[in-house]
Amino acid sequence: MDYKKIIAAAVFAATDAALNEEEIYRLLEVPKQENLGDYAFPAFALAKTFHKNPAVIAEELATKVKSDYFDHVEAVGPYLNFFLSKNVVSNEVIKQVLNEGADYGYFDEGHNGNVPIDMSSPNIAKPMSMGHLRSTVIGNAVANILAKRGYHPIKDNHLGDWGTQFGKLITAYKLWGNEEDVKKDPIKNLVAYYVKFHEEDVEHPELDDEARLWFKKLEDGDEEAHRLWKWFSEVSLKEFQRVYDILDIQFDIYNGEAFYNDKLDEVVELLKQKNLLEESEGAQIVRLDEYNLSPAVILKSDGASLYITRDLATAIYREREFDFAKNLYVVGSEQTHYFKQVQAVLLKMGFESAKEMHHIPFGLITVNGKKLSTRSGRIILLEEVLNDSMDLALKMIEAKNPALPNKEQVAREVGVGAVVFNDLKNERILAEDFNLEEILKFEGDTGPYVQYTHARGQSILRKAQELAITGSDYALDDANAWVVVKQLEKFPEIVKEANDRFEPSVIAKYTLKLSQAFNRYYGNSKILADDGGIHARLGLVQATATVLKESLRLLGIKAPEQM
Ligand code: ARG
Repeated sequence: MDYKKIIAAAVFAATDAALNEEEIYRLLEVPKQENLGDYAFPAFALAKTFHKNPAVIAEELATKVKSDYFDHVEAVGPYLNFFLSKNVVSNEVIKQVLNEGADYGYFDEGHNGNVPIDMSSPNIAKPMSMGHLRSTVIGNAVANILAKRGYHPIKDNHLGDWGTQFGKLITAYKLWGNEEDVKKDPIKNLVAYYVKFHEEDVEHPELDDEARLWFKKLEDGDEEAHRLWKWFSEVSLKEFQRVYDILDIQFDIYNGEAFYNDKLDEVVELLKQKNLLEESEGAQIVRLDEYNLSPAVILKSDGASLYITRDLATAIYREREFDFAKNLYVVGSEQTHYFKQVQAVLLKMGFESAKEMHHIPFGLITVNGKKLSTRSGRIILLEEVLNDSMDLALKMIEAKNPALPNKEQVAREVGVGAVVFNDLKNERILAEDFNLEEILKFEGDTGPYVQYTHARGQSILRKAQELAITGSDYALDDANAWVVVKQLEKFPEIVKEANDRFEPSVIAKYTLKLSQAFNRYYGNSKILADDGGIHARLGLVQATATVLKESLRLLGIKAPEQM
């Protein structure tokens, strides 16, 4: 129920059509202070029509507006303040949440329109970094939120599986590599070969020629080159898969960069047809002056394609294959200028669908204040971070609740949830710092805090089962319950905002507010007291647990029943 609509209708009825209902609706505000009611209507808007002082208008309207949904209406200066009936609204909101269950908050905005989401996209033969974690986790949450708004998300892992580095890797492997080592610990060993290549080629520049040759062979479909490349890809992907399994994140497609190899000529052809290619120092470029962007280099002077050539092919492929409603790229903010170039080139080529292309950038990640980079050697493996978090969660649970059944499973859910929540709780563009002890605290702005609140609700519901309470009414007029009810009522709007802004933090922040409101209520009321109100109180607990669980699901976080 949209209570603003009810208020707008009541004001409309009391003002002789001085303003239309939609205008009134738009003017309604939520007062900053709680003692000023749930909504306020600024009477300034009527001053011209009624030729009266707004304060006088507010005063008069206060006696005229009527609805069963209002407890009372008060004029304060030029404002008309509405206090909703706690009993009526609580009853309605709780009933709705309980009826709809996990579907509460669903709205079919998308009509099942396809939305490819380019996410995770680590590079073959390189470790998956914390930056890839952000893309994976943010992309997954964005996908869940889109589905809740009626879209059909298509999670696409655009693996970095092509490029001249594979020539170097093959060269290095053939010189110093060992099959058994690669099988045992693929990425670690492949990285080691690659690093050794770069150390050696300072003294032996002929290695570079060798690498170029191998890459050429790879491009030409040479059997050995292709076999090695494929093998490197498979063993790397197997390692990445371990992380995806821990996170319980699945992809719909894995169309890496190599997938577009046979689609690049067409891109170049199209650019030529449109007269967009220009030669510059031997390279083929597209000028983007009118977009205030530096030129996009499409082909190097030796005719080789680039990262952007593949992304152009990718966008065109997605349009044809999926006829997408939106086309999303969850990639770090360091590639912002780059994605602007991709979009600009597509627009120049006449692809109108590029208007629905959105880069969803995110900030850098640091661990205990330190920057991460693969090149400097300070490789922090994502898997290690997740494993450490699960280990620490298990220790905490063993200390707090040693009798808990399936401790290992809960520790997994809490440990992983803590990392994911930390990743999503702030606006994605902000840099994120990471400290395991902090993010695992059961109090504060953490995932475990929200999970714990949910488990606390479930524990009350378990106890209540024995009492076999029945009833049909969820009227509550407790001030602390009211804060919870108002949060529950907001949920559909929160999902919409998170979706509109591709911003999972809107939901993460909401779960914290709902948890805080619920814990205040929990601490100040005897929920299981044997009186006439117990049915309504349990309804509130159940509704809160439902919305917390669903919010966590949207973020890609599990909600254990006990912890
Ligand atoms: N593999 C790239 C990297 O690690 C990310 C790819 C992003 N997606 C894209 N379509 N360019 O930086």
